[in-house]
Amino acid sequence: MKLEVDQSRLAQELETLGGISEAPSPVTTRVVFTEADLRGRAFVKQLCREAGLVVREDAVGNAFARWVGTEPDLPAVGTGSHIDAIPNAGRYDGTVGVLGGLEAIRALQRSGFRPRRSIELLTFTSEEPTRFGIGCLGSRLLGGLLDASVGEQLKDKNGTSLDDARTHAGFTGPLSDVRLPKDYYSAFVELHIEQGPILEARQFPIGVVTAIAAPASLRISIEGEGGHAGAVLMPDRRDAFLAAAEIALAVESAARSTGAEDTVATVGVCDVFPGAVNSIPSRVRIELDVRDIDQSRRDGVLRKIAETCDEVARRRRVTLRIQPLNADPPAHCAPAVVNVLSEACETHGFGFMYMISRAYHDSLFLSRIVPTAMLFIPCRSGFSHRPDEYASPEAIGYGTLVLAEALARLSGQDVIVNHA
Ligand code: GLV
Ligand code: MN
Ligand code: MN
Repeated sequence: MKLEVDQSRLAQELETLGGISEAPSPVTTRVVFTEADLRGRAFVKQLCREAGLVVREDAVGNAFARWVGTEPDLPAVGTGSHIDAIPNAGRYDGTVGVLGGLEAIRALQRSGFRPRRSIELLTFTSEEPTRFGIGCLGSRLLGGLLDASVGEQLKDKNGTSLDDARTHAGFTGPLSDVRLPKDYYSAFVELHIEQGPILEARQFPIGVVTAIAAPASLRISIEGEGGHAGAVLMPDRRDAFLAAAEIALAVESAARSTGAEDTVATVGVCDVFPGAVNSIPSRVRIELDVRDIDQSRRDGVLRKIAETCDEVARRRRVTLRIQPLNADPPAHCAPAVVNVLSEACETHGFGFMYMISRAYHDSLFLSRIVPTAMLFIPCRSGFSHRPDEYASPEAIGYGTLVLAEALARLSGQDVIVNHA
């Protein structure tokens, strides 16, 4: 029987999931372990059960939905992504890889295919760093790349610990149990929107990802001195926000100074205390994100930022604490899986290009423990992390079809070689 994706059903499911949000439509906000996140998870799990998949969850809430193969003891083939969404996000980041992964499995089921290796759909917990300051919580723990004791101590900005939040959401047990045993998966593939403009501009339906850029993020806490906005004269001030403002501009120039288009840096959080128009800011917390495909160049930018922080703190007489949140090495995708994805595109007559991912993904961490690669599909104007993020049902359908083909090949294959 033919391998066919049900585009309209998938579009409908993405629409329903997009509507499960803390903010009114068209905005999707679904921060980890909020009520919206839990409703989103319930929706996905229900669909997985309807497809006959065996569902389980681990101590941090990663969900695994397994289509059991004819040789269930072999390492499985994994696919999936995340459904949490940053504040004021769109509907496709992550969700395409989860619901597209499910539809790929259903398309294989409808075609009469029987997997040799089990095929498992993963929904990772907290790919987004919004709540606990560090992205890819679930996949870091799966890969043994985040110490369980460090994970337990993570807190959100209200002081709620990861442990309390997960327990409240119904996920219990030691975080150290999340780590996957060796050889759990033989290969992993994540389908995702590109989140950039290249595929659309060059009119390619598919991108085959060969490398994933490396993010590093810092939290900088600055303490100056508060006071009355009218009464304290300018020379006497130790304004924490002005120090933060200088640092933010230095972050931009440090990124630009490499001359490489792959170096990017963003100050995306700035909390000002006490946050009153007639009060000099006494405390400010900023969070920034620096990325590059070249780790040493990225680390050079981090060093420049640290030097600026010292200089600004001295000159402005503020105290400053830099807290590294993460600094991950870039990943190269596994050539053997990249080849399978390329062949899957060719089999179905899709043109594709090789590309790097400038966004990070759970695949960055899965790639440390299992041969991994990613499929990108175009999204309108490259928009992402904003409510007008959009990928057409056709684009999603094509990506899903290629994913289904790749999963079939990987689940029938004996061993994957070339794991870096
Ligand atoms: C993932 O959401 C990223 O920020 O790259
Ligand atoms: Mn995202
Ligand atoms: Mn994503």
